[in-house]
Amino acid sequence: IKKIGVLTSGGDAPGMNAAIRSVVRTCAFHGIECIGIYRGYQGMIEGDFKEMGPRSVNNIINKGGTILKSARSKEFTTPEGRKKAFDNLTKVGVDALVVIGGDGSFTGAEIFNNEFGFPVMGIPGTIDNDIFGTSHTLGYDTALNTVIECIDKIRDTASSHNRLFFVEVMGRDAGHIALNAGIGAGAEEILIPEEDLGLDRLLESLQKSKASGKSSSIVVVAEGDKMGKNVFELKDYIESHLPEYDIRVSVLGHMQRGGAPSCFDRVLASRLGVKAVESILEGKSNFMVGILKDEVTLTPLEQAIKGHYPIDRELLRVSDIMST
Ligand code: F6P
Repeated sequence: IKKIGVLTSGGDAPGMNAAIRSVVRTCAFHGIECIGIYRGYQGMIEGDFKEMGPRSVNNIINKGGTILKSARSKEFTTPEGRKKAFDNLTKVGVDALVVIGGDGSFTGAEIFNNEFGFPVMGIPGTIDNDIFGTSHTLGYDTALNTVIECIDKIRDTASSHNRLFFVEVMGRDAGHIALNAGIGAGAEEILIPEEDLGLDRLLESLQKSKASGKSSSIVVVAEGDKMGKNVFELKDYIESHLPEYDIRVSVLGHMQRGGAPSCFDRVLASRLGVKAVESILEGKSNFMVGILKDEVTLTPLEQAIKGHYPIDRELLRVSDIMST
């Protein structure tokens, strides 16, 4: 292996820059060239490349977003698009690829590897933390901290007005952000797609909390959790059954994806970048690097894509007890 290409793909996540920095500098450390690929797979198809050395990643460890930019490429889902990408990589002598992204990005990497036998290595970067084979994805810890900071602020106004707030957080099909930030921010109830609480139980719980003397409450709703309703319909439903509540909705949205990465995400990104490059140099391919019990690990991409990092059931119980 003489030249490694690195790209970021899918939804951006804090810590992606720290991972790019780590990949670039690990390549330099081992005397290998590194090429940055802009806009994910779309940039691969268009040949949007830039040579990167240790000095091209100065002062980015603390930056949110991704200096390489990100995209979700439709063209890369076609054999013609992938062939163009392969030809472009071959032209500039890139002989292995590090893909920083989520499961959609890994699916692309796996297909690319199967079609061309091209060595690929994945680094999990998504705030959702929904990838099998790692207890933490890049950006998740930062997003959790962003969410609790927002909810702390919402709590101030909720308690001043004796209001109930439904706060919608990200996590397409996964409740990790909702569950952990919900506990961290002291939410009354946490609604996640992995566990259908049911509308009756929600009503009952809110009634109980009012009766126990709570004057304001926060309910955290994962965007993937619908119980057949979006967060605004949920508000209408509760309002019509519990008219004593004055309810507001706050959708935190993309602010959860921005901001300076936490120390945890920076260290994780640095560790995963080193492991990704060194694994390629050891001749490994088609794996995702991850972290389990604070050990850096390798999981076959196929498993990382198919599986889901499970919700911690103990946290559900903790959340129940805390809302007493
Ligand atoms: O996968 C990360 C994520 O932030 C999800 O939590 C969210 O559903 C989605 O991306 C939003 O995607 P987009 O930025 O394309 O609107």
